Amino acid sequence: MEKQQLEALLKEMSLEEKVGQLFQIIGYYYVEEGKKFITGPDSGLNLSDENGALTGSVLGLQGAELSKKIQKEYMEHQPHHIPLLFMMDVIHGMKTIFPAPLAQAATFEPELTKEGSEIAAKEATAAGLHVAFSPMADLVRDPRWGRVVESFGEDPYLSSCFVKAQVEGFQGSDMKAPGKICACVKHFAGYGGAEAGRDYNTVSMDSHTFQEFYLKGYQAGIDAGAGMVMTSFNTIDGIPASTNHHLMRDILRGELGFDGVLISDFAAIKETIAHGYSENGEKAAENALRAGVDIDMMTTTYLDHVADLIQKGVLKEELLDESVMRILELKNRLGLFENPYKDADEEKEKELFLCQEHRKTARKAAVRSFVLLKNDGILPVDTEKKIAFIGPYTDRKEMLSSWAITGDAKDSVTIREAAEEVFASDRTVYLQGCPVLTPGFGTAQLRLEVEEEPSEEECRQMKEKALKAAAEADLVIMPLGEHFKESGEAASKANIEIPEIQLELLEEVVRVNPNVAVVLFNGRPLDLRKVSRLAKAILEVWLPGTEGGHAIIDVLTGKINPSGKLPMSFPYCVGQVPVYYNAYSTGRSDFKGCTDHFRSRYLDIPNEPLYPFGYGLSYTEFEISAPELTEDTLSADGSLEASVTVTNKGTRQGTETLQLYIQDVFASVVRPVKELKGFRKVTLEPGESRRETFRIDETMLRFLRGDGTVGSEPGTFRVWIGNSSVGKEFEEFTLL
Ligand code: IFM
Repeated sequence: MEKQQLEALLKEMSLEEKVGQLFQIIGYYYVEEGKKFITGPDSGLNLSDENGALTGSVLGLQGAELSKKIQKEYMEHQPHHIPLLFMMDVIHGMKTIFPAPLAQAATFEPELTKEGSEIAAKEATAAGLHVAFSPMADLVRDPRWGRVVESFGEDPYLSSCFVKAQVEGFQGSDMKAPGKICACVKHFAGYGGAEAGRDYNTVSMDSHTFQEFYLKGYQAGIDAGAGMVMTSFNTIDGIPASTNHHLMRDILRGELGFDGVLISDFAAIKETIAHGYSENGEKAAENALRAGVDIDMMTTTYLDHVADLIQKGVLKEELLDESVMRILELKNRLGLFENPYKDADEEKEKELFLCQEHRKTARKAAVRSFVLLKNDGILPVDTEKKIAFIGPYTDRKEMLSSWAITGDAKDSVTIREAAEEVFASDRTVYLQGCPVLTPGFGTAQLRLEVEEEPSEEECRQMKEKALKAAAEADLVIMPLGEHFKESGEAASKANIEIPEIQLELLEEVVRVNPNVAVVLFNGRPLDLRKVSRLAKAILEVWLPGTEGGHAIIDVLTGKINPSGKLPMSFPYCVGQVPVYYNAYSTGRSDFKGCTDHFRSRYLDIPNEPLYPFGYGLSYTEFEISAPELTEDTLSADGSLEASVTVTNKGTRQGTETLQLYIQDVFASVVRPVKELKGFRKVTLEPGESRRETFRIDETMLRFLRGDGTVGSEPGTFRVWIGNSSVGKEFEEFTLL
């Protein structure tokens, strides 16, 4: 449709019809048996029969046949035959599930995320979806927050590269094109800064930190053309985001230049009453619409009040029209006026869901996301040895993530299934050893609806068998970790160790056989002090998705050399949180003249995380020379080059991730001790060396200056190129 046609349509629409466009209804409204995809509180929806009649969009309903049927029936009754938008949380895959976003960031390969998102978009659109509630662009620094699993980590640059890749993979250059879906950048803004890592909690941060670190990811998604943004649940400067006029009008639409549809998070408009900001539903609706929130997800706050507010003259109808037009424009960008079913197709579903090609890409992504945290020489495993796989993840399909709501764990390949394709059956045993969660504690404390708990006696027998097998094996592989429901939304934790029952099992196994390699499943950085003291090797596999088992065996056997790097620091212990690499120096950090006592430090633990950002080992060893610069000065319109020689000193092929960090030594506001400015993966044969060069120019040195403007400042800069955020050797140049 042309713009004039959309304008003409808007003119013809009744007030009720327009308000209807602003309401998003839950999918189960249309399906009696299907309460499955409820992704927020189920209370207080109070839906009546009329509510669905004019709604503009639907949340959490999928399937080609069903979505086409609903679209057809709905459009027949909608006075102007305006199609519905079908939206859903497609976070890391639709049916073929890729590694969780945090794991994807560990690949340091945004191209892989783009490829995975293209696949997810194809599968999702075949199932009748138009909008995917992803990427989550929230910067994260606190592993207690369960939603770090959905993020791309602690670094604004790395995270931005992945946000951009996902938007591009979903939308391509034209959302109308077959297999393309609208991306929704969320949660605007600062949701990852929830105090004490408790979900939905207050966010309180200075505006410099907010702008310089937290806004970057959203900006990347908007610059990549994302058609939708979602508000966050938290307050910003004391005002709930969904009713925060300054945040939405001045920052989002003004500074960041977003002109698409702004949707609230689940019930977030109504929740501004509970926040103590909006006095009642009417005020909440007024505040949110004034702030420019176009769609009310999952409550009838707009439906109940907007028409009244306009009739009473409290709100101008133009304000409503503005929002309706944005929604119509999105429907138009998706081509729904011409083809309301878009790509929904039962045949395509059969052809695409979990097809070999998609599984292959999921396996590649999983392999590349694994981070080898420790290896005292016992990995890769020698397949000729006697191996005992012991641990609750040995034959467990539930390794997708709590947000893989469209995927099905039964489609995933377990470690055991994959191992049986490779290892001789007479030299391997597979035992659970213990349940994932400590009985009683796990389920009650975490309030998880999990599988039936084994009795004490069953646990004892499980362990006894495991210890016997461990004692008889040459090597023990222990797949351990968090339950997949321990991360994700509403899954904050104050204790970030693996469940106690698993730690006990590990301790006892190590006592009978010290040759233990832990394969670690988790959706957040954990406190790994005990695990790393006990195990000879740790392979971090996150929540690896449908092809997890195959990918793990590929890496354990050395068929593929691990190359992932941590996108988020693993703290020494929870008392250190938040701990992130791009922190500021203090007046009492390490420098000459600062005596040991009066330093910024803890008395009982180191300042450094156990495993830092950017860290990850390989089965081979790389040597990286000190960086060399082509110039020691840089002019505003020029550039210089920073180079290193990287050599594979080991005996097998491997891939190293070179990371470029820069520090602005003195500035009008203090600058981080170092910041990631570039990265590159280099694959080298044994003994091979390569010279690698990064280009540096003035644009990479810009920041939010003391006077509130963005730009660089002349002075000294330090440059590191290494294989983690910890590196000693640097070179300096002066920006003129
Ligand atoms: O997209 C999600 C959001 O991340 C959290 N609340 C529910 C939304 C819709 O499912």
